[in-house]
Amino acid sequence: MDIAFSPLTLPNGTTLPNRIAKAAMEENMADADQTPSQQLLKLYQGWSQGGAGLLLSGNVMVDCHAMTGPGGVALEDDKHLAKFEEWAKVGQTAGNHFWLQINHPGRQIRTELGQPALAPSAVPLDLGNLSKLFAPPQEMTETQIEDVVSRFVTTSKLAERAGFSGVQIHAAHGYLLCQFLSPLSNLRQDQWGGNLENRSRILFEVVKRVRAAVSPKFCVAVKLNSADFQKGGFDEKDASWVVSRLSNMQIDLIELSGGSYESPVMQGEPAKGSTLAREAYFLEFATDIAKVTNVPIMLTGGIRRREVLEQVMKSGVAVAGIATALALQPDLPNALKRGEDPNPQLAAVTWWNKTLAALARMMVIKYQLNRQSEGLKPKLSVWPSWALLLGLWSGNKRAKLYRKQMELRE
Ligand SMILES: Cc1cc2nc3c(=O)[nH]c(=O)nc-3n(C[C@H](O)[C@H](O)[C@H](O)COP(=O)(O)O)c2cc1C
Repeated sequence: MDIAFSPLTLPNGTTLPNRIAKAAMEENMADADQTPSQQLLKLYQGWSQGGAGLLLSGNVMVDCHAMTGPGGVALEDDKHLAKFEEWAKVGQTAGNHFWLQINHPGRQIRTELGQPALAPSAVPLDLGNLSKLFAPPQEMTETQIEDVVSRFVTTSKLAERAGFSGVQIHAAHGYLLCQFLSPLSNLRQDQWGGNLENRSRILFEVVKRVRAAVSPKFCVAVKLNSADFQKGGFDEKDASWVVSRLSNMQIDLIELSGGSYESPVMQGEPAKGSTLAREAYFLEFATDIAKVTNVPIMLTGGIRRREVLEQVMKSGVAVAGIATALALQPDLPNALKRGEDPNPQLAAVTWWNKTLAALARMMVIKYQLNRQSEGLKPKLSVWPSWALLLGLWSGNKRAKLYRKQMELRE
């Protein structure tokens, strides 16, 4: 535990006050103009005071026409920078760091948002009966690829101007950069597809250009899948190769996760009689990777208990990322520091439809985020079916608002 609460100096000289990070959780709480709302500010102020050394925002989109969900935040120009400045300030009240996670959804874009889905190739998501909830993707042109790369750069520069201390480039969980990495979703024959070098090109371009555009003291991180967990997809060998190449690109942290909407292993389920190592989902891989790169590794997935956190710290992983448990108990790091072991967790959702069960679990967690943003205590006893219905209803309302807003802009 002493290691978890000791400072960590990153490659660019930034020192995190401790090694616990609040991992990204999409909040769906933006104001109608896709800017941080007062609710969002309150949520992050709570997490800042909860004791984590680093907060990562939920997805912040690099293009307001390409959102991962209704009520998402987008940062593409300085029109509303003052609101982002406020967010950056309240999220760093306790001396922690606060980075924006920046993202483009690619084909993981909901039909209800009424926007076209851009992707490396025109390969639709395969979610069985739920596939129609996602827009059919179009293969991106060279110009569109260039546009997306420069959008990541623009958003990073704006994040620095607003006072955030870093960005995390999201290349995991089946979003656009992850789609390029996977041979299942990237069937291109040009310089952006084919072998792994070509499939990684867009990620490396984004990383290099972002690093060159921001100041050296501004942190640049990447969230990467250890694997897609799909037959024939991006696997651990591919991930090791990508990490070894990223190691020479002056980045400050690599977060390892796994899965996508098609294979939502990143959400996991409470471990059943498992070893400690299996309770933290990707620990084995992260331990191996940490040995072969000089970039600090952050591991996220399943960490909530004191004993697991200790195990993660002992394994050579530099930062322990916690998402769900911090939605259930925002001051978990402080509680652990005081010597407590609260072990916050949700009951498993054991529905036969795994995709629907994963969605319901997600909505239960978002329900807790909403409560926190209104100054209420978490309520873990909420029924998954009720949280799902409520989440779908409010998502639908926000999606309508978003479409109206987009019509007004055009
Ligand atoms: C409600 C919710 C929203 C999430 N949104 C994001 C996101 O915006 N970006 C991201 O990289 N991961 C997101 N995740 C995944 C988490 O960052 C994390 O990888 C995953 O939940 C596993 O960690 P945990 O077991 O500590 O929850 C989300 C998870 C949850 C539960």
